[in-house]
Amino acid sequence: MTDSNQKIALVTGGATGIGKACSIALSQAGFTVGIHYNNSEGAADALKRELGDAFTLKADLSTLEGVDTVYEELKARGGLHVLVNNAGMAIDAPLFSAKVEDFDQVVATNMKSTWLLTKRLARFMIRKKTGRVINISSVIGSTGNPTQSVYGMTKAAIDNFTKTAALELAPYQILVNAIAPGFIKTRMTDELPEDVQAEIKKRIPLGRVGTPEEVGKMVKFLATEADYCTGSIFHINGGMYCG
Ligand SMILES: NC(=O)c1ccc[n+]([C@@H]2O[C@H](COP(=O)([O-])OP(=O)(O)OC[C@H]3O[C@@H](n4cnc5c(N)ncnc54)[C@H](OP(=O)(O)O)[C@@H]3O)[C@@H](O)[C@H]2O)c1
Repeated sequence: MTDSNQKIALVTGGATGIGKACSIALSQAGFTVGIHYNNSEGAADALKRELGDAFTLKADLSTLEGVDTVYEELKARGGLHVLVNNAGMAIDAPLFSAKVEDFDQVVATNMKSTWLLTKRLARFMIRKKTGRVINISSVIGSTGNPTQSVYGMTKAAIDNFTKTAALELAPYQILVNAIAPGFIKTRMTDELPEDVQAEIKKRIPLGRVGTPEEVGKMVKFLATEADYCTGSIFHINGGMYCG
């Protein structure tokens, strides 16, 4: 049984890093949060217990089957109000030695999953003539970055997709925006060598990396307020790039 007043927000990769902060912020805003995960089952279960009004769902979003699993789960729960396309990965390598298999994996995880999930899950929003889609892009999609040719391409594609999806879904009062974080302290950036992290910090006018919670606050704002914003890319980067 589903409660017709229940508003569901799905956060892909919602158990770790930026996604976890988005799950917490949306829970605080009153949503029932779908915490999607692929490998981080323990973290997803712990977060579900912490949030209370939440559920977990496992899917590898780099596959069509994974996207189908998410669609069926939400159909059984009566639909979706907010979709946060946050799941993503990077496999860094210089252009000349980057592998085609890695290209396919990063494109499938970051770009194809965002397109497919939005395409399929927007149906629930179209029926209700309301909804919000928030895509987590990256400053690298605007600036480029050595060794991140594939990652940067996928994020630039997400920015462009955000604009087209916003135009196509506007007649149904569905708002589609993207957030492009700069360097945020998560395991993705913790994996960078210390000298690289120090170099990055020098390029940030505010003099520090951001926190996942700072991205979560913007997601909450786009999910619950920002009624006249659609098709925009919101940069959160401590001043390192002005979009
Ligand atoms: N940290 C930064 O500085 C930064 C800057 C700009 C943009 N971003 C973007 O922010 C998003 C979150 O990254 P993060 O920094 O928070 O790192 P993270 O903790 O590593 O988060 C990545 C998430 O993506 C999920 N994921 C990866 N591959 C997946 C797959 N095949 N199927 C389903 N889920 C998959 C992971 O789920 P499991 O752990 O369950 O496998 C994980 O929860 C990414 O899109 C990233 O590009 C990050």
